[in-house]
Amino acid sequence: MFSGKTALITGASSGLGEEMARQLAAQGCHLILVARRTERLNALAAQLSAVTVDVITVDLADPQAPTRIFDQVASLERRVDILINNAGFGFQKPTLEMSLDEQLGMVDVNDRALLALTRLFAAPMAARGEGWILNVSSVSAWFPIPGMAAYAASKAFVQTLGRALHEELKPAGITVTTLSPGGTRTEFSSKARGQMDPSLEKAMMPVAPVARAGLQALARGRAVVVPGALYRAMTMLTRFLPESWVVRLAGAVMGRHE
Ligand SMILES: NC(=O)c1ccc[n+]([C@@H]2O[C@H](COP(=O)([O-])OP(=O)(O)OC[C@H]3O[C@@H](n4cnc5c(N)ncnc54)[C@H](OP(=O)(O)O)[C@@H]3O)[C@@H](O)[C@H]2O)c1
Repeated sequence: MFSGKTALITGASSGLGEEMARQLAAQGCHLILVARRTERLNALAAQLSAVTVDVITVDLADPQAPTRIFDQVASLERRVDILINNAGFGFQKPTLEMSLDEQLGMVDVNDRALLALTRLFAAPMAARGEGWILNVSSVSAWFPIPGMAAYAASKAFVQTLGRALHEELKPAGITVTTLSPGGTRTEFSSKARGQMDPSLEKAMMPVAPVARAGLQALARGRAVVVPGALYRAMTMLTRFLPESWVVRLAGAVMGRHE
C-alpha cells in the first residue's frame, strides 16, 4: 500500500516509531526520521538503506520545531505522503509532585507539536488530494487518570482531534487514523515510572503487533484502532460504567504509585 511513498515519523529513535519505520521500509516506503537522539536515528537509517532515509534532529518541545521540520523537508525536496505523529512521553506522578515546566513540556510535545505538524503537512496533502496521517494516542484517552492526569488528558486531546479530523479531512482525500495503544514494551514505561509494577508488566504488548495494527488501520482508512483484546475491552467498559467509577478504577489501576 505504501510502497514508493514517503513517511515522516516523529519519535523514530525508539519504540513504536522505530518499529513503524522498520515495517514501512520493509514495504518499500521511503522515510524521514525525526527525534532528538541523532545517533539512534543515523544507526536506524544505516540499517534501512534499501529505501531513501533522511534524518531530522529536533526537540519537539520547542514551539518553532514543527515549522523548522516543514522547511527542512522542503529544502530536502522531499514530499510527505504519510505523517506519523508518534513522539510523546508521560509521567506517572501526582500533579503536585510534577513541576509546571514538566507538565507544560509534555503538552508541548504530545499535543502542540502534533497539532502544528498535522496542520502544516495536511495543506500540501489536500492540494494533491491524497495523504495519510497516523496520530498516536493511548487507551488513557478513554480514562481521566488520577495520578497520571495531565498525560491522560494530553492523549484525550489527540483522540478527539483525530476523530474529528478523520471526518473533516476525508473530502480532501486525507485519511486520519488514531492509534491508541495500551501498555506496550518500549522505553516509555521506564521513563514514565522508573520501575514497572509486576502486575502491569504482564499486560504489556510487544511493540511489533501494535505498530502493525496502526499501519494496517491507516491503510484501511479506519478512524481509531486499539490493539489487543484486553485493551479494547477496557475501552468498551467505559460505555457501561458510571463515570465516577471509571475515574476511580483508572486511578487505582493506572495511576497507582509505589
Ligand atoms: N509504550 C506504551 O505503553 C504506550 C502506551 C500508550 C501510548 N504510547 C504512546 O506511544 C508513543 C511512542 O512511545 P513509545 O512507547 O514508543 O516510547 P519511547 O520508546 O520512549 O519513544 C518515544 C519517542 O518519542 C521521542 N520524543 C520524546 N520526546 C521528544 C521531544 N521532546 N522531541 C522529539 N522527540 C521526542 C523519543 O525520541 P528522543 O528521546 O530521541 O527525542 C522517542 O523516539 C508516545 O506518543 C506514547 O505516548 C505508548
